[in-house]
Amino acid sequence: MNKIFSKLKSFLLMSAYKALVGFEKLINKGVVLDFLADDFVDDPYKTYNSMRMHKPILFSQTTRLHWVTKMEFAQEMLRDKRFSVDDRKYPIAERRRKEFKKAGREIMLEQFENPSMLKLDPPDHSRIRKLVQYGFTNRYITSLEPEIKQVVDDCLDKIHNQESFDLIEDLAKPLPAIVIAKMMGLPDKDLNQFQAWSEDLLLGVGGIGTSKEDIKKSGDAYEALIHYFEEIILKRKDAPGDDFIGKLIQAEEEGDKLNIKEMYGTCLLLLIAGHETTTRLIGNGIYTLFNHRDQMAHLKENQELIPNAIEEMLRYEPPVHATVRFAENDMIYNTKSYKRGTAFAVSIAGANRDPDANANPDEFDILRDDIKHISFGYGPHMCIGASLARIESRIAFETLFERFAHLELLDQKPLWGKNLIFRGFDHLNLKVS
Ligand code: HEM
Repeated sequence: MNKIFSKLKSFLLMSAYKALVGFEKLINKGVVLDFLADDFVDDPYKTYNSMRMHKPILFSQTTRLHWVTKMEFAQEMLRDKRFSVDDRKYPIAERRRKEFKKAGREIMLEQFENPSMLKLDPPDHSRIRKLVQYGFTNRYITSLEPEIKQVVDDCLDKIHNQESFDLIEDLAKPLPAIVIAKMMGLPDKDLNQFQAWSEDLLLGVGGIGTSKEDIKKSGDAYEALIHYFEEIILKRKDAPGDDFIGKLIQAEEEGDKLNIKEMYGTCLLLLIAGHETTTRLIGNGIYTLFNHRDQMAHLKENQELIPNAIEEMLRYEPPVHATVRFAENDMIYNTKSYKRGTAFAVSIAGANRDPDANANPDEFDILRDDIKHISFGYGPHMCIGASLARIESRIAFETLFERFAHLELLDQKPLWGKNLIFRGFDHLNLKVS
């Protein structure tokens, strides 16, 4: 009986969704905002382009978000204090609190009330970010290069002699997780457990139609990781050491220090923010090169172009497609009025394809000059791990080119994940010859 009810419920929900999409198509003069459609998942850029041409700030009923697809507005919203990230302040927060309580997720509720810097506005954001930056100096990140190379080599050694391998499972996923674990000085024996938790955790982030089971798995992993980090940090308090966690413990700015909650919140943020994203960059980048064989060949022969090619990959197929901002107060923006708490989806992917920012934006060109993208964000929340991601992906591409004279995509049309925030593949099988 339960099964019949749940089928009926999803049928009704889907019918209501389709009706909304049809209604929006009428009022938006033919622009279809069907974020569940296979067409959208295959090529979201067509939709973003038509949204931008119709209205650069366009409300979608199904997501209840105002989508911003123009570079100028996107940058302004990411930089301007009138737009906030702290969702605790707005009416939406009550729903989240109820959901956490209903699911018995006390730790997640506590974390929601004490968010990481990604969800904090100034002055808390600026205070925590300054302290976390102690662990992200260019000198320190660059010093990790040999270790990163070793991790890439170890991953590829494991598939040595295989006729094919899964780029995502065998390299792109483990690489950032192992690098972060090493950066944090986590013991080698914890690595497998740590990787399993990180993967489960990400099951619940930004997916379209995420199953209840995945949401539960993600919540369990979240709580396990919080306990894990808490224990590690407490153990390290008296002998902090020189790794990232040691630097967090010692970081001090004008007498200010991070408290324990801020420390484990930061560790968890780094894990989420630095894992899925770098995995996607490597996967999306290789896939895009396979679709532009002449450029792949040119890049192999001219590897000094890899850093520019990575910027173009970030622009053309960004791992993070959108981020959310809220109107801090009732406001007028670009001649329209918005109520306090109005949520805007800043479409990173849409802005990157704005012809006012980049000429011929739908063309992929590793030789493009002066690439404008906001794939690492913009303004005060701009990605703190950008240089780490750039180094990891550069070493991954260099090593792949160095080890494999010839690679082929086994599946010509691999499946893009259905996720409005992260864009990428769960698997990308490559044939070695
Ligand atoms: C290709 C890889 C990556 C991409 C595309 C990416 C993208 C982004 C974006 C778009 C933001 C801004 C979000 C917003 O404004 O709402 C951001 C922030 C952040 N990223 Fe990354 N990221 C990547 C890798 C990393 C790595 C490797 C780390 C660290 C290990 C990291 C840590 C962070 C942190 C801590 C923030 C929050 C900064 C703040 O709130 O001030 N990211 N990232």
